[in-house]
Amino acid sequence: MGSDKSSTSIERRQFDTLIIGAGGGGLRASLQLAEADLNVAVVSKVFPTRSHTVAAQGGMNAALSNVSPDNWHWHMFDTVKGGDYLGDQDAIEYMCRAAPKAVYELEHFGVPFSRLDNGKIYQRAFGGQSQNFGGDQASRTCAAADRTGHAILHSLYQQNIRAKTHFFDEYFAVDLLKDDTGRVLGALVFNIHDGSIVVIEAKTTLLATGGAGQLFKTTTNALINTGDGMGMAMRAGIPLQDMEFFQFHPTGIAGRGMLITEGARGEGGYLVNSDGERLMERYAPKAKDLASRDVVSRAIAIEVREGRGCGPNKDHVMLKLEHLGEDVIQKRLPGIRQTCITFLGIDPAESPIPVFPTAHYTMGGIPTNHYGQVVIPVKDTPEEPVQGLYAAGECACVSVHGGNRLGGNSLLDILVFGRAAANHIISYLKENKYHRGIDDEIIDKIVTKVKRYDGTDNRSADTVETVAMLRAELKQTMESHCSVFRNKEILKEGVDKVEQLVKRMENVRIDDQSFTFNTAKVEAFELENLMACALATIHSAYAREESRGAHSRTDYTERDDKAWMRHSLYSFENGLDYKPVRTKPLSVDSFPPKPRVY
Ligand code: FUM
Repeated sequence: MGSDKSSTSIERRQFDTLIIGAGGGGLRASLQLAEADLNVAVVSKVFPTRSHTVAAQGGMNAALSNVSPDNWHWHMFDTVKGGDYLGDQDAIEYMCRAAPKAVYELEHFGVPFSRLDNGKIYQRAFGGQSQNFGGDQASRTCAAADRTGHAILHSLYQQNIRAKTHFFDEYFAVDLLKDDTGRVLGALVFNIHDGSIVVIEAKTTLLATGGAGQLFKTTTNALINTGDGMGMAMRAGIPLQDMEFFQFHPTGIAGRGMLITEGARGEGGYLVNSDGERLMERYAPKAKDLASRDVVSRAIAIEVREGRGCGPNKDHVMLKLEHLGEDVIQKRLPGIRQTCITFLGIDPAESPIPVFPTAHYTMGGIPTNHYGQVVIPVKDTPEEPVQGLYAAGECACVSVHGGNRLGGNSLLDILVFGRAAANHIISYLKENKYHRGIDDEIIDKIVTKVKRYDGTDNRSADTVETVAMLRAELKQTMESHCSVFRNKEILKEGVDKVEQLVKRMENVRIDDQSFTFNTAKVEAFELENLMACALATIHSAYAREESRGAHSRTDYTERDDKAWMRHSLYSFENGLDYKPVRTKPLSVDSFPPKPRVY
């Protein structure tokens, strides 16, 4: 327990930079900063190598041309098209150009990429990849078997230990500390082990807390993916951008959600319906199973809806890998083979895998520019930087993924923008050398929040809510009302239900005699963050009357560039607002919107 303190007796620590989150984005940034001799702290609610980057399977995109001819400009085109023209083209150009260097840096950090016979890094085909601006399939995804994220995260952690990054393991960041000019001065964190509070004063703070996949009942995401940075940002008055664009990965294990990498289709696997048909031939005649994820997920959902699903309940389709042979499966896909054996009792070398679209990735998030600075609209400007605050990776919306992320661009995003944010911080700190001090009232406000769940509950039992119950209801609500296909009625009901759940949060109490009190408290904080993300997601989805990328409305089936080629922004204070897409790249011509076919 132990949080019974006033601001004057709370431990305070000072760092040049505070990084919240120890996945690939956070650790790439911290490494850059530590190597620049800055005093950098990483706060992580789990031991760093348990961060969700560890679960990334298929790989990281970069135009290395090791397997097929390639260049960064083709990669840029595919990313703009994959995102259904909602992505900001300056950031997309920046990312695709930086990709090869990001991969070679990882190689030098010790990441054990799989190899081709000629010794070069192995690259596999992934969805939405093309040569020559929409031509033949490209193979652009650099892989370490199907455990790429695991390899990257462990190498980055080891490099950070070498560089003497300071880690606060198993500390939960509760809220940002902000002065009355809006400048961010660090965060208040909660020690999960003993319940004590630490104020971390920082000249710069980077949010790298990952996505909010726990919004949905069936998800590929770990229990830790609760949108913590996004919730903190919203409570600090920062709107969330494009939250209606949530990616459903086509191949989660049906009904359970574990990820079966897109790399399985990249290696030659394909989807079949109950009639044994290769269903993707109908929906994407050219790219077939390697169309972009939103296209494949919709195809599976339609097959099931129209009665061509498999199994006793006709509620999934099958992913066939048997024809690849045991050697290829063992060499290239050992992790998913083990997952299938463990969770389904089947060996994909012998039997097909039951799959269904599963919540996977938050395309939206905290708005940033391509330097990682958090940006918000101020007066008549679409964006001004929030002083001292940065965000990178899945919690951020830079926006390189637009309405639909391409597989393999997420590891790339965290590494490129983790590094970019660190580089900007290094120059910012040359001009901003000193700590500014934090008023006690700012700290006291957050301490009150930390204590909100403490104390004897004297209300009648029927008004008391539990975190577990509300979290389960929220996940079911989002799954039923904000899934692959949406329409006005379903979304409106979802909006009402989420609003109700948010109100019911006020009645949450925790048994403060429990010896798991600290972790129960963290679960309550996480639920507050999920509720914030759910509000932003469902309101933004309800308002967007078009179909674009992963946001597919059965009542507005077409993309509407005239009315809707703009980013949504949702905040507690102002509800919904919009800002323009940055269509101008840094150095090349724009890719204007076109019909998107695969
Ligand atoms: O399918 C996968 O391996 C997932 C990759 C990604 O989300 O980028």
